[in-house]
Amino acid sequence: MNSCVIGLQWGDEGKGKVVDILAENSDIVVRYGGGANAGHTVIVGDERFALHLLPSGSVRPDKTCVITSAVVVDPEVLIDGVNTLAEKGISLSDRLLISENAHVVLDYHKQEDRLREESLGKNKIGTTARGIGPCYADKVGRSYAVRVGDFRELDTLKDKLVGIVDYKNKLFGALYGAEPLSADEIFAKCVAYAEAMTPFIADTTEFLHASISRGKSVLFEGAQGALLDIDHGTFPYVTSSNSSPLGMPSGSGVPAKMVDKFVGVAKAYSTRVGAGPFPSEQDNEIGQFIRDKGHEYGTTTGRPRRCGWFDAVAVAYSVTIGGIDSIALMHLDTLSTLKELSICRAYRIDGEEKTFFPANIARLAKAEAVYETLPGWDEDISEVKDFNDLPANAQDYVCRLEELTKAPITMVGIGPRRDQVIRR
Ligand code: GDP
Ligand code: IMO
Ligand code: MG
Repeated sequence: MNSCVIGLQWGDEGKGKVVDILAENSDIVVRYGGGANAGHTVIVGDERFALHLLPSGSVRPDKTCVITSAVVVDPEVLIDGVNTLAEKGISLSDRLLISENAHVVLDYHKQEDRLREESLGKNKIGTTARGIGPCYADKVGRSYAVRVGDFRELDTLKDKLVGIVDYKNKLFGALYGAEPLSADEIFAKCVAYAEAMTPFIADTTEFLHASISRGKSVLFEGAQGALLDIDHGTFPYVTSSNSSPLGMPSGSGVPAKMVDKFVGVAKAYSTRVGAGPFPSEQDNEIGQFIRDKGHEYGTTTGRPRRCGWFDAVAVAYSVTIGGIDSIALMHLDTLSTLKELSICRAYRIDGEEKTFFPANIARLAKAEAVYETLPGWDEDISEVKDFNDLPANAQDYVCRLEELTKAPITMVGIGPRRDQVIRR
């Protein structure tokens, strides 16, 4: 059985926790997209892990972890992740594979991300400043790209870097008056990266297909969320990869038909970090209540997350384009004690009610959320074990979300711990 876990909103839905739970019954966990812009939290006992590039399965010592070709790898973050786990007694040697075809995020990508955002002022995207967009742009542009496999040919890489850094320095000097970077310094870092990473470099496509044909069970771990997808999200306020489930086959080299189950993760409300439309946003005391109670501050950047009501139009869209089989609904506990809960069930655009999400910024900017309101509950639900033992209003809320999103909700999160999940 192979499955794929993906975010159905704007990221941070709780994918790390869901992957950690499902990894128990998988052999291999795969990150197939995005980069160190991701921050996936896994809590094991008293230990809290924030994973940026390593698959969330890496905290389980018996799982093989794979980073495929569509991931943009920041070697500093990767090596730091490997070392942090090693310090906690969790070794990745002999169980981590990194695609030779994955692209590498280097200093000039992070420099460009920062400079461009600064120069955009109020029009900035609000990126994580991890160099993601510039690295994917170099990949698509081809001529100035560095791939993980280049670490095996350091002499060739050195010449390549001289050309790339010269080009970038001219460009960023002219555009932003930036201080030039040194190709020698970047190359020296690459020598160290190569030493640390060479044991992990592999043909991950061959490995995954060989493993699947031997009957191994693979869990694909999406990063970001469907609404941040470069082609199907709220462009230009998106990330630079196909972060919807549609990115899984191209990102990993494994066709979607080999995946038995697509599990979408959604929060029982909505959050978003960075700029961009958010029709059900509550920039008021409700949003602040959710932010405080749900600890809604970025795992990667520490930025306060924008918070709002559950947007069923947006989640139903992600379910539709993603072929989602079931939903894991996280953070139901965060809503306890609110007197009433609103659900955005439609958008009003130019006087007309729409229930199909318009992934076009001009139309989305006009969208006004149409709400229905359900009564809340006061009880602490964080130790409930059975769905039928939840307060009736909590059960009704979950069932209504299920109706509106047209996907069965099979897991309900009631706290950050591994065991704080109700299975249905
Ligand atoms: P990811 O990027 O999708 O993996 O999500 P993040 O790790 O960025 O953010 C999710 C946050 O919610 C983390 O701090 C988790 O520990 C926490 N979390 C996950 N599920 C639940 C839940 O059901 N209830 C509560 N209260 N917290 C949760
Ligand atoms: P996980 O995997 C939430 C957002 C950024 C910004 C936009 C573009 O933890 O859910 P980028 O740095 O990718 O160019 O930023 O995308 N973003 C995320 N938001 N969770 C994430 O990852 C995100 N990764 C990128 O905040 O709005
Ligand atoms: Mg996150």
